[in-house]
Amino acid sequence: FIDSGLHQKVDTLLKEYLSQRRTDKGTFAANGFPRSSTSHSFAGISERHEPQYPVSAAMKNALHRRSFLLRDQQQAWQESVEGEKMLEFRKGLPAYKEKDSLLTAISENQVVVVSGETGCGKTTQLPQYILESEIVAARGAGCSIICTQPRRISAMAVSERVAAERGEKLGESVGYKVRLEGIRGKDTRLLFCTTGILLRRLLVDRNLKGVTHVIVDEIHERGMNEDFLLIVLKELLPRRPELRLILMSATLNAELFSSYFGGAPMIHIPGFTYPVRTHFLENILETTGYRLTPGNQIDDYGQDKLWKMQKQSMKKKKSQIASVVEDTLQAADFRGYSVWTRDSLSCWNPDSIGWDDINALKDKLQANFLLGDPRRVLLLACHGSMASSEQRLIFDKPEDGVRKIVLATNMAETSITINDVVFVVDCGKAKETSYDALNNTPCLLPSWVSKAAARQRRGRAGRVQSGECYHLYPKCVYEAFADYQLPELLRTPLQSLCLQIKSLQFGSISEFLSMALQSPEVLSVDNAVEYLKVIGALDDKENLTALGRYLAILPMEPKLGKMLIFGAIFKCVDPILTVVAGLSVRDPFLMPFDKKDNAKLNLSHIMHEQENVLKFLAPFQLAESAKLQFSRQGYSDHIALIRAYNGWKDIENEKSRYEYCHTNFLSAQTLKAIDSLRKQFFFQLKGTGLIDEDQTTSNAWSHDEHLIRAVTCAGLYPGVCSVVNKKKYVSLKTLEDVNAGEQKIPYPWLVFNEKVKVNSVFLRDSTAISDSLALLFGGNVSRGELNGHLKMFGGYLEFFMNPSLAETYLRLKGELDELIQEK
Ligand code: CDP
Ligand code: MG
Repeated sequence: FIDSGLHQKVDTLLKEYLSQRRTDKGTFAANGFPRSSTSHSFAGISERHEPQYPVSAAMKNALHRRSFLLRDQQQAWQESVEGEKMLEFRKGLPAYKEKDSLLTAISENQVVVVSGETGCGKTTQLPQYILESEIVAARGAGCSIICTQPRRISAMAVSERVAAERGEKLGESVGYKVRLEGIRGKDTRLLFCTTGILLRRLLVDRNLKGVTHVIVDEIHERGMNEDFLLIVLKELLPRRPELRLILMSATLNAELFSSYFGGAPMIHIPGFTYPVRTHFLENILETTGYRLTPGNQIDDYGQDKLWKMQKQSMKKKKSQIASVVEDTLQAADFRGYSVWTRDSLSCWNPDSIGWDDINALKDKLQANFLLGDPRRVLLLACHGSMASSEQRLIFDKPEDGVRKIVLATNMAETSITINDVVFVVDCGKAKETSYDALNNTPCLLPSWVSKAAARQRRGRAGRVQSGECYHLYPKCVYEAFADYQLPELLRTPLQSLCLQIKSLQFGSISEFLSMALQSPEVLSVDNAVEYLKVIGALDDKENLTALGRYLAILPMEPKLGKMLIFGAIFKCVDPILTVVAGLSVRDPFLMPFDKKDNAKLNLSHIMHEQENVLKFLAPFQLAESAKLQFSRQGYSDHIALIRAYNGWKDIENEKSRYEYCHTNFLSAQTLKAIDSLRKQFFFQLKGTGLIDEDQTTSNAWSHDEHLIRAVTCAGLYPGVCSVVNKKKYVSLKTLEDVNAGEQKIPYPWLVFNEKVKVNSVFLRDSTAISDSLALLFGGNVSRGELNGHLKMFGGYLEFFMNPSLAETYLRLKGELDELIQEK
């Protein structure tokens, strides 16, 4: 069984698919990627509307006519009453004064770096200046401007704004494209998209054919995608001398980027903002009646000591951030202005900042009427995982006399502009993914932001009138902040990135990454390559395998992509789509807030026999028991998720769905998000050509929980731990202890989605599996390794003692053989 294992068969099959598609359709890009219409349209921006080169005379004429039409349209709008008003507004922005020098620099240089304070008009104006100048020069129909944004919400919000400024609807000359959503039309010349979308387009169109300008926005954030894109573009520029690249940054570290591109010219847009008064914690404490111990100057304290002291003084009152916010607002002589707070809860609950915290703070503020008459308060949350329609609410103007309060994470730090913010409350922290290369563990820890980020946060006030900023930390802590945040490339696992490098055919991964602005550690790169080899995406020589090629075109983590591909091949697409969508969104099982730390273990399925747990009627246990209903005998968070989702999906009307969610401690919102993501993943999977329209075939074995367990294992491996006793899991590779609490373990192995270091190491989203499943679906490990790790005899024995499992496996092998022959 091991020698002709399922993995090799799957790889053979995928190769067959690839080669068949190549000969059938002849639509493969030079690098061997499928270019069917479906895969291409999700891969990025359609090429349909761009001029084909060389351009025929007839086409030239058509383009010309179109260009004049665009010019007339633009002129008509600018001469209308509304258009004139808009133009006036635009002329008032600081960027306008630099318009000519910007355009000249762009026409004379291939790369230009532009910096300027948030709100000066970089994102909305600069791409428009380029578009307008092309239109005025009657080249408008031939130009194609792509402006990348690090986040979906900014791509959408900005495109909407720019279309409005041009008196158009979205999808005319301005459009947007983010993962799985987008509006653009045949006349779209300026496209706002996420950086990821442009990278995906580069997969199938390495030279960015037809694109005239690429604008990379918010480069100061140093996101991984942006850093990656810069390497790719640097390599591309010599091949496309007419292509223009503009880098935009909110802060003044333009030199770094300029020197990366051989001394590209820098243009700074001087901004105007109203003065913002800055208060640090010591000032806030004084105005709110808290006193520091007399005789102790704040500067005498080390950070830790100071924090303890603040916490204690807060505890004496209400110990909740809500009270701090309340006091702060009162101290600020709160007169009905809007207030912007962000991550506020985090400083008092240093373990987490995020969606939960924001929601909890929101509830608290609402429940306690801390902000006065609720009818006069518009309290909004803003978080990256919210639906985009909800996120957009933060831009709305409240009615007269109503205060708008926005609770936001650092996603709103630079890229979105809410004009009416007057107060900013800044906790000084952000949840930052980091990567512990030594232990090969991703960490999600709240940490202090950088000075640059604190400045950005402060800058959100004072846009329409003078404002105030409350930093909930002392000045001496601020002084100790780093100037800039560590680039993401240096603090995240690099697996997806390595896959992309390979699929863009950039040769050696480590050589490619050595060209980055700042290169990641050798160990991080090695770990990522090793991982890709273990899951079978790269072969021994670091070349993409058939599986790797498919993984590169699926826009999700490699492990989730692999799960989906296995789900397609083993004909259990529906439940696996649920798992993959669930892992991409978040857990729909709600946990009472105060017990969240316990809930992080997320190993509830293992507790299913401990009925005595249910004796306690605390909310936590109620929620747990609700989840237990779903995981009963499944021993799997993933199977519990599938059952919960299916139960919800089967209900027809909204009201009963609501009741179902309520009694089962499920989040209706999350289930809806999972539902919509599932659909989109389905189309993407279809785009790979691995499944066809007929959903009955692709779901022939969806009811088989053995199989679901197996496919989950195939995807999550090598995320597998051995259970050594009641208290510990040991991971195969490092023999590291993983905290599992006092749970009883029914199977010898657990595959898990995430091993996260919060304070100790936690496993998230796990499925218990038997020896034989680990052995057969576990992946590309060598026989020797398997021998070392698995209790072989026990595995075989269990396999033969479990006829239904053996049956499933034999059936799979048989079906695969048939499929391969068919192909
Ligand atoms: O990119 P940058 O931070 O330099 O500024 P921007 O996003 O281009 O915004 C320029 C100005 O446009 C802002 O100061 C706002 O006054 C206005 N704006 C708006 O009213 N509504 C939006 N959705 C975006 C911008
Ligand atoms: Mg901007």
